[in-house]
Amino acid sequence: MSDAPQITPEAVEAAVVDALAAAAAATDTASLKAARAAHQGDGSPLAALNAQMRHVPKEHKAEYGKLVGAARGRVNQAFAAREEELAQAELAARLEDERIDITAVPSRTRTGARHPMSLLQEQISDIFVGMGWEIAEGPELEHEWFNFDALNLDEDHPARQMQDTFFVDPVERHLVMRTHTSPVQMRSMLERELPIYVLCPGKVYRTDEFDATHLPVFTQAEGLVVDKGITMAHLKGTLDHLARELFGPEAKTRLRTNYFPFTEPSAEFDLWHPTFKGGARWIEWGGCGMVNPHVLRAAGIDPEVYSGFAFGIGIERALMFRSDVQDMRDMAEGDVRFSEQFGMVV
Ligand code: PHE
Repeated sequence: MSDAPQITPEAVEAAVVDALAAAAAATDTASLKAARAAHQGDGSPLAALNAQMRHVPKEHKAEYGKLVGAARGRVNQAFAAREEELAQAELAARLEDERIDITAVPSRTRTGARHPMSLLQEQISDIFVGMGWEIAEGPELEHEWFNFDALNLDEDHPARQMQDTFFVDPVERHLVMRTHTSPVQMRSMLERELPIYVLCPGKVYRTDEFDATHLPVFTQAEGLVVDKGITMAHLKGTLDHLARELFGPEAKTRLRTNYFPFTEPSAEFDLWHPTFKGGARWIEWGGCGMVNPHVLRAAGIDPEVYSGFAFGIGIERALMFRSDVQDMRDMAEGDVRFSEQFGMVV
């Protein structure tokens, strides 16, 4: 046992100093436990020195016994004191952590959320403003002339019955709740300088049932462009851009011939919805076409020089497709739990 440590006052002191340093360095009860095992346990330097007691000559046994015993006592005490200290600090930290202020006043008002229809309407407006278009507005209580006549829907035109109109008393005043945002086409052409690039989002009214797919009050966005050299390709490109911005890079649109008296040619357009729940598909989204020359002439615009396109999209439908809303009534009822699902944007 030649490499066994010799009991000397220096060796004992060094072991004590190491042990005390280790106790002081421990920052939590777990690391203290490990330090304690290393400096106080069976394999520790102090234990090894103690084991040498049997080799100490008889006349020195008492002296060295005292030396080692005192050293172990100091180390024990230091670890016990440090343990107490750390345990108290840990308890204090836990209490602070779990503290509940029972005097705090709970907030009684529930934080609201912007309505998803408002958010989507703003997002669509932003897409067009980003292309340099302007936002136009018109009244919801509209003159029949703007809602029908100016759009080439004469009094005896069969298409006038296409839309289920709320007529407003007294009938002699010829006021209706606008059945579409298209009257803003004529208002914009009369009020604005050419060229015209406008988007008009707004509420429209029809005597529809209130059910999962119909609302008597719903929202459209009307687009109108009048400029030199405008073709159907511009219309298609604009609709495709809108589709991609709202539904992702794979979205696109297709046109199907249709009839509207204020556009010629006219089309209905479908959206290719790449992320539709249950598989990508075409879904009908709105109406569009090239502004009818009769309409341009009624606005004092020469159809030989200018041409234009117009479209109308349903915004509730866009929200249904985009966010998988199954029942349109949820959009009308104003329950904040519905709005909250779309994020707490305020
Ligand atoms: N106003 C039509 C509707 O509500 C849609 C439309 C707008 C069609 C513009 C052509 C051009 O059904």
